[in-house]
Amino acid sequence: MSPERRRILTGVRPTGALHLGHYVGALENWVRLQEEYECFFLIADYQVSDHADEFDLVREAVFEVARDWLAVGLDPERSHFCIESLIPEHAELTTWLSWWIPLARLQRNPTLKAEMGEDSASMPVAFFNYPVMQAANILMPKAHLVPVGEDQLPHIEMTREIARRFNRLFDREVFPIPEGMVGRVPRLVGVDGNAKMSKSLGNAIYLKDDAETVTQKVRGMFTDPTRLRATDPGHVEGNPVFMYHDAFNPNVDEVNDLKERYRAGKVGDVEVKAKLHAALNQFLDPIRGRRAHYEAHPKLVREALAEGTARAKRVAERTMTEVRDAMRVDYLG
Ligand code: TRP
Repeated sequence: MSPERRRILTGVRPTGALHLGHYVGALENWVRLQEEYECFFLIADYQVSDHADEFDLVREAVFEVARDWLAVGLDPERSHFCIESLIPEHAELTTWLSWWIPLARLQRNPTLKAEMGEDSASMPVAFFNYPVMQAANILMPKAHLVPVGEDQLPHIEMTREIARRFNRLFDREVFPIPEGMVGRVPRLVGVDGNAKMSKSLGNAIYLKDDAETVTQKVRGMFTDPTRLRATDPGHVEGNPVFMYHDAFNPNVDEVNDLKERYRAGKVGDVEVKAKLHAALNQFLDPIRGRRAHYEAHPKLVREALAEGTARAKRVAERTMTEVRDAMRVDYLG
């Protein structure tokens, strides 16, 4: 661990396998940024109160996420894969930081509002606390950069406010002010045309889906609802199939040709989709290959998590010593 390298902390909640939306929204950046930054990739298992009654799923998802990370090329030697609850310093820092977040500030957070829906009265306290915990996650290794999906930006804004407040209050630069960073495709549509690909909406293509599954999902994809026959001129803009072509098909000439013919009513959905599942399967093949290797060697996955967590825990202990010093809660010396 070299202290000169600037740091990244980012994470996901362990609720299941990762999908194409995660890839273009964030993961792709993570893979690239490992070259330049010291990265902490966090599995945020304190933040799954919505899965409290299915904890076996969470336990399994911890490994599912780690396998996906390894499969896309995150490198556990260079970066730290860490499990949040095995570094209880996160809970400790959350407690302190929650002193400085007015409830009204949380209630204005648009992501929280959207997730809460109409039924805020029945949400567990842990839910309201999760953006505070996310701030603790980010500040713990003193991260400079937080590459995430766009829905996470309000939490980063709040983290910046908390960091400034803490530094000002204790009159020292304990925490750098972190920046957010959103991926190439901030929000990927679902295969059903819904604005967001998400597990809970059942409209995702997973990084671990096999070729046949991907092909079937693409065949069932929504396209241009106004177009009834292949000879009708079609819309390319806002058409999920073309959004995926733009995001995943590296053959720009092929995509442009399809778009041109689609607009002119000279190509059917079948061909557009066939080229899309071919491109997606080509993109996913190396990811599947690496995943198969880690599925066959579960010990490697366990080691990546154990070693990364141990390294991140040492960093967390150092930060908490500084926090307690700054706050003068070192009563007994
Ligand atoms: N809340 C994030 C999500 O749902 C996951 C997360 C937890 C996270 N801690 C974080 C993201 C810290 C960035 C930084 O995807």
